[in-house]
Amino acid sequence: MKTTVAVIGCGRIAKGSHFPALTKMEDVRIKYACDLILEKAEAMKEKYPEQVEQTITDYKIALADPEVDAVFVLTPNFAHYTITMDALRAGKHVMCEKPITVNYALSCEMAEEAKKQGKILNIGVCNRYHKSVEIIEEMNREGKLGNLYHVYCSFRSFRSIPGLGGAFTDKAQSGGGVLIDWGIHFLDLILYVLGGATLKNVTCDTYCEMAKDMKSYRYKNMWAEDTADVENGVNDVDDFVTGYVRTDKASISLNGAWAQNIDKNEMFIDFLGDKGGIRLDYGKQFTFYDGETLESDVSDHEIPNMYYREDEDFLRSIQTGEKNRNHIDNILESMKLLDALYASAARHEEIAL
Ligand SMILES: NC(=O)c1ccc[n+]([C@@H]2O[C@H](COP(=O)([O-])OP(=O)(O)OC[C@H]3O[C@@H](n4cnc5c(N)ncnc54)[C@H](O)[C@@H]3O)[C@@H](O)[C@H]2O)c1
Repeated sequence: MKTTVAVIGCGRIAKGSHFPALTKMEDVRIKYACDLILEKAEAMKEKYPEQVEQTITDYKIALADPEVDAVFVLTPNFAHYTITMDALRAGKHVMCEKPITVNYALSCEMAEEAKKQGKILNIGVCNRYHKSVEIIEEMNREGKLGNLYHVYCSFRSFRSIPGLGGAFTDKAQSGGGVLIDWGIHFLDLILYVLGGATLKNVTCDTYCEMAKDMKSYRYKNMWAEDTADVENGVNDVDDFVTGYVRTDKASISLNGAWAQNIDKNEMFIDFLGDKGGIRLDYGKQFTFYDGETLESDVSDHEIPNMYYREDEDFLRSIQTGEKNRNHIDNILESMKLLDALYASAARHEEIAL
């Protein structure tokens, strides 16, 4: 049986990841492409004329349509909450992009609503479907690393503030900067690999330094520049973050930068165990360092498209009713961690969880 869906938000992630995935699936019917800016929805219909049936600007049209089984919420962070709540109340299953929304309290409300309505609500923490992450999770479960005592992650880049002055750098719309935008991917996948770690306490500092004066920010190219607004927009979010997390399993340290004056991209996670260690080059292969033989081994598995796998599993979950790894209930802990890190930075003190 085909699942009928509506895609709400036809921006970068829709265009680059979810439309390419959904249009390859034979058991999916894309009844609506929706965007506040009609041209963006129309661009998707032009690209996939066989699959995309209608374009709309008001998502409530899709919610009122009894044929629609599920919606994909691919809008800026602040809009996740309202659209998802409306969709659940209209009886639709929801696949909502990461982060869940701008804070933990609203995220919990979304989880509660999904439970109340008996609908699936998944979150787009796509790295849980990255093959390297799956293998590392399995290796840790099988004890290949021994005692995994610490995880270090770095998500630092030279110039990657997205759409300066637009939704990404306005805390009211995004919930935060590099920590919520990139950190969620790194921290969520670490919690996934650790498997049910209990958070104990965190300490964190955040900085908004590199584009304090938006007009004098120097860069070579800007991701999401079409949404930038340095004249009238806002930049009140973290472009650098450093933090430390204690759990009942491994401790975690993190450093992240959307922009910094070191021209090196350092996007990796080190899993340190007493028997072996793993460096995961983010989004790529990983290297296993064997503590006994002192040999190292670069993984050489296929890396299938994680967005396709994530969407496919969401659709399967709708059919079976079973919660999968990206169900909101499995992601709330990552959101709680982000909230605590931001609270620690704001108060300049350690936060107990
Ligand atoms: N999983 C990932 O790897 C990944 C990568 C990039 C972005 N994201 C997430 O995806 C979301 C969107 O990011 P993006 O880069 O595509 O942003 P974007 O600005 O390119 O696209 C968002 C689109 O949503 C539309 N929109 C806003 N409010 C709407 C509404 N009420 N109804 C219909 N359309 C509406 C906007 O007009 C815009 O076209 C963000 O939450 C972001 O964190 C996830």
